[in-house]
Amino acid sequence: MDLTYQSGFGAHFATEAAPGALPVGQNSPQQVPFGLYAEQLSGTAFTAPRHENRRSWLYRLRPSAGHGAYAPYRQARLESGPFDGPVTPNRLRWDPIAVPDHPADFVDGLVTLAGNGDVATLSGMAAHLYLANRSMVDRVFYDADGELLIVPQQGALRLVTEFGRLDIAPGEIAVIPRGVRFRVEVDGPVRGYVCENYGAAFRLPELGPIGSNGLANPRDFLAPVAAFEDVERPTEVIQKFQGGLWTATWDHSPLDVVAWHGNLTPYKYDLSRFNTINTVSFDHPDPSIFTVLTAPSEIPGTANVDFVIFPPRWMVAEHTFRPPWFHRNVMSEFMGLVTGAYDAKAGGFSPGGASLHNCMSDHGPDLASHKGATEAELKPHRIDNTLAFMFESRWVIRPTKYALESSALQADYDACWTGFPKARLP
Ligand SMILES: [Fe+2]
Repeated sequence: MDLTYQSGFGAHFATEAAPGALPVGQNSPQQVPFGLYAEQLSGTAFTAPRHENRRSWLYRLRPSAGHGAYAPYRQARLESGPFDGPVTPNRLRWDPIAVPDHPADFVDGLVTLAGNGDVATLSGMAAHLYLANRSMVDRVFYDADGELLIVPQQGALRLVTEFGRLDIAPGEIAVIPRGVRFRVEVDGPVRGYVCENYGAAFRLPELGPIGSNGLANPRDFLAPVAAFEDVERPTEVIQKFQGGLWTATWDHSPLDVVAWHGNLTPYKYDLSRFNTINTVSFDHPDPSIFTVLTAPSEIPGTANVDFVIFPPRWMVAEHTFRPPWFHRNVMSEFMGLVTGAYDAKAGGFSPGGASLHNCMSDHGPDLASHKGATEAELKPHRIDNTLAFMFESRWVIRPTKYALESSALQADYDACWTGFPKARLP
C-alpha cells in the first residue's frame, strides 16, 4: 500500500497526518481537534455547479492569515499576461536552454517563453521553462494568477505542498492549484516546462463515443496524503499576483496543514499510464485523441488550454501517411519535447526545446520526415523513446521579448519545409 498518495481525479479525499485531527461530521466545529485552525480554500466560486465546484478544508497549526504585508519581488525573466507586445505570424522554434551555473531555485529559475490572455480576466495561459539547480530553502511559493502544470524534462522534483508531498520525474506531471503553497526541492540541475493556466482548472476531457474508459483514467491521478512541518524560523513566502511577484517573511513555515479534506488538491500523473487510442484502420484521428487534461473556455470544445501528449505507441494505419499531416489550425500550439524525437521532425526539435505554431500558421512534417513516411513499408511500427507534448490554446500565443531575442531561437526553422517537389499532374 502506498502511504504517500491517494488515487482519483476530483475525488473527495480526507487525510490526516495526526490521528483524530480531522473534524468528524462538520467542517468548522467550535473547537477543532488539537486546537487546529480551519481554513477553506476555494478553487471555484462558492456557487459553481456541484460538478464544477472545487474546494478543500485545511486544518493548520496556525491561521495562514497571520503574516505581514507583501513587498514587490524582482524576477526579471518571469513575465505574465496581458501579453500585448508585437507578435509575429512566423513559425518559431527554440533549442534547449541550458540550466545556468549561477544558483537559482525553482522560483528564480522561471523563464517565460510565451503566453496569452490576461491574468486580470482569468483567461489565457503562459508557457514557462524552469531552469534551476538548487532547492528552495526556507522559501515557499504560490500563484494567485493560475494553476501550474509542471512537466519535468531533466531531473526529479520534490514538491512539498500544503497538502503533502509529490515526487515527480521526467515522464510524469504535477498540477498545483491556484493559491496552493509549495516548495520545490531538487538534487541537482533540473529543467522543465510549466503551463500557467489563468483560466478554469484542468480537468479530464469528455470521452464521447470512446466510452467510460480510456485516455487518462481517473484512478491514475495521485493526490498527496496530509504531511506537515512545524518549523518556527523565518520563511519567505513569494506569491505571484496580477503578473508580479511579491514577497513577505513569515515567522514560520506555512506548510503546517495537519489534516485536510476536499476535492481541490495538487496531484501528479505518470504519463506512461495514458491509454493511447488511435486508428486501427486508416487515416488520422485529430490529435485531440491525445488530450490528457483540458482547461475549458466559455466556448464548448474550445479550450483555454489543452495539455496533449505524443507518447510511445504503435502505428498501424494502412495506406496512410502516418506522421502528423500538414495542417493549419485556428488553435495555437506551443510544443515541447521531454525525450527522444518527434515523428514529424527529422531533426532540430530537441528535448528541452520548444516550438510555436500560432493560429493558421502552416506546419507539418519536414522534408526528411515526409520523404521517409511516404516511402516507408507500412508494417506495424512502434514509436518508442519519445514524449512530446503540446499546450494548445484558443488564444494566439505571444512569444516574450526574451524568447524572441534568445540565442536559442532558431534562425532557419522555415528551411525545414523547403525543397518539397511540386506535384505532377498527368
Ligand atoms: Fe500542429
